[in-house]
Amino acid sequence: MDDHQPQSVRVERRPVSERESRAANGPDWDRYADEYQATHGAFLGDAGFVWGPEGHTEDELRILGDVAGLDVLEVGSGAGQCSRWVRTHGGRGFGLDLSHRQLQHSLRLDEETGVRVPSVRGTATDLPFAPQSFDIVFCSFGALQFISDIDDAVAEVARVLRPGGRFAFSVTHPTRWMFPDDPGDAGLTATQSYWDRTPYVEIDDASGVVSYVEHHRTLGDWVRILAGHGFALGDLVEPEWPADHDRVWGGWSRSRGLLTPGTAIFVAHLAQA
Ligand SMILES: C[S@@+](CC[C@H](N)C(=O)[O-])C[C@H]1O[C@@H](n2cnc3c(N)ncnc32)[C@H](O)[C@@H]1O
Repeated sequence: MDDHQPQSVRVERRPVSERESRAANGPDWDRYADEYQATHGAFLGDAGFVWGPEGHTEDELRILGDVAGLDVLEVGSGAGQCSRWVRTHGGRGFGLDLSHRQLQHSLRLDEETGVRVPSVRGTATDLPFAPQSFDIVFCSFGALQFISDIDDAVAEVARVLRPGGRFAFSVTHPTRWMFPDDPGDAGLTATQSYWDRTPYVEIDDASGVVSYVEHHRTLGDWVRILAGHGFALGDLVEPEWPADHDRVWGGWSRSRGLLTPGTAIFVAHLAQA
């Protein structure tokens, strides 16, 4: 969910490595975290679990099932709102995020709510956990679309999950890649190929350094990536825009949401041993 307001940047489409993606996105989220939490914190809820800008919650969608008594890892956990929801529902929720500042917000919310989410700074492509540590791994718009080496990230999820474990994640709906990231009418006209996976890159005008990166996978790519790491895809949830919902979040808006899907939630299970 990108609506960050970076310094003066130019936009390009070009290949970027995992190292470059991470070096850009960590500092970008550090810079943006205060504004992100100030803008979206109330909508997310300090111990709330929202799957995307449409506002659908885990209480409504039941993507994870009953978490009570389970070990649950959130990758790209930000301020840990979703994991705090897991904790209040009896699960042992843990967070991991690349951004130091996002994790400081997580600590702040731990103190304000009294619901603590043990969290660690790290990257999705190198999870600092032993094999078979978790029953569920999930991401709510966390990490996955910011990663170049997506096979490494999904392999890591498969490694830390127990046999039969669940992997659920929301990302920008792949069909949105065709459209300008504009909540208004301009965002309703396809201007680039759905099949062009060349990453979206912002480059800081002053320093010439890559300051933000997003990666695109088609729906078919996701199915193949999951299958290639031993996952069976059980569901692909495409939440509809609620009739009474009128909130703009980056390129997500009511006018676009009523016509095109903005979020895709993949729900997969690791094969039993
Ligand atoms: C859109 S936020 C989502 C956070 C949270 N789920 C929420 O709804 O607010 C994306 C998060 O992914 C994190 N992130 C980006 N790249 C990452 C990576 N390679 N590994 C782990 N986290 C990453 C960012 O720091 C950011 O906190």
